[in-house]
Amino acid sequence: MLRILAEQAEQAAARLPREVYDYYATGSGDEIALDEAAAAWRRYRFRPRIGLDMTAVDTAVRLLGADLALPVLAAPTAYHRLAHPDGEVATIRGVHRAGSLLVLSSRCSRRIEDVAAAADGPWWFQVYLLAETSIGRQVARRAVDAGAGALVLTMDTPYTAVKKRLAGVPVSDDDYLINFAEHLPAGGDPFVATTQDPACTLDALHELTGYGVPVLAKGVLRGDDAQACLDAGAAGIVVSNHGGRQLDRAVATADALAEVVEAVAGRVPVLVDGGIRSGLDVLTALGLGADAVLLGRPILWALAAGGAAGVTAALDALRGDLVEGLALAGATAPTDLPPGLVTRAPR
Ligand code: FNR
Repeated sequence: MLRILAEQAEQAAARLPREVYDYYATGSGDEIALDEAAAAWRRYRFRPRIGLDMTAVDTAVRLLGADLALPVLAAPTAYHRLAHPDGEVATIRGVHRAGSLLVLSSRCSRRIEDVAAAADGPWWFQVYLLAETSIGRQVARRAVDAGAGALVLTMDTPYTAVKKRLAGVPVSDDDYLINFAEHLPAGGDPFVATTQDPACTLDALHELTGYGVPVLAKGVLRGDDAQACLDAGAAGIVVSNHGGRQLDRAVATADALAEVVEAVAGRVPVLVDGGIRSGLDVLTALGLGADAVLLGRPILWALAAGGAAGVTAALDALRGDLVEGLALAGATAPTDLPPGLVTRAPR
């Protein structure tokens, strides 16, 4: 793991209340998927190319119209106000100072419009469809109106899995309902209305493609599902097992990636998340065919450890680590990787 990420994780563990740290850190079930995520990236090896001029190495990429300084995005994660009083407003500032992009969670703890006002670059919005089916859609429309450049529909969460280290989500009712309250129907329990919609279908994905921005499908672990999402109109695929927080024992994303890349066959960008903690993890993902990666927990630890500046520092360090990895692998850019760069480690 990159040193600054390890240090920020330690600082966050020391600083955050125990129940907040556990809420962020936990996985579901026996935490098998969580435990395997980072290790899976480290089972791959590189076949570097030599004899090339590596004077100028550039990590910049263009992704669905967004120009980014590095192929690393901040994944959608809930309730950043548990990590920092400014919550997602601090996160987006830190992310944009590093030239990256925030995928803002449907379960964010600041008003979408306030996060958008703090933006200094592109951002996307993660959509959850909720039990009261109009709410998730109205929130998604608000995000597009506020400037979200894409919608990311999370499709691996028909129900929220029981988390191993968690009695309840340690967030205040006000922060929990901050973007939902104005859309609630009269009467009824707001917390029932805003649980997950168990029917997050391909039809729902298709419907979102009519909102005027590209739609990515998040939570894909199979080639056939990637194809089905493309058929439904997806403009991008996010290979994810939700950071080991949904189906425990789901395959590691490092191992699912190649099948999805093959099915997508270059038609749309493929992103991947889960356990990515260093420039070489990013390089492995790129070598296996991803266009970019996302970081979940490391952004939360960075936010808790150092606010916006901590987030910028984490992403800047990761970019530096990736520059070194690219140069030593014989690649001047994420789009210039040697063919067959990544291979499975021999047993
Ligand atoms: C998440 N994740 C997530 N995903 C999503 O689509 N919507 C959400 O609101 C959340 N919330 C959330 C909260 C917390 C505390 C965590 C740790 C994760 C999943 C997230 O987007 C991503 O898939 C994983 O976090 C990536 O794995 P790593 O980088 O955390 O190992």
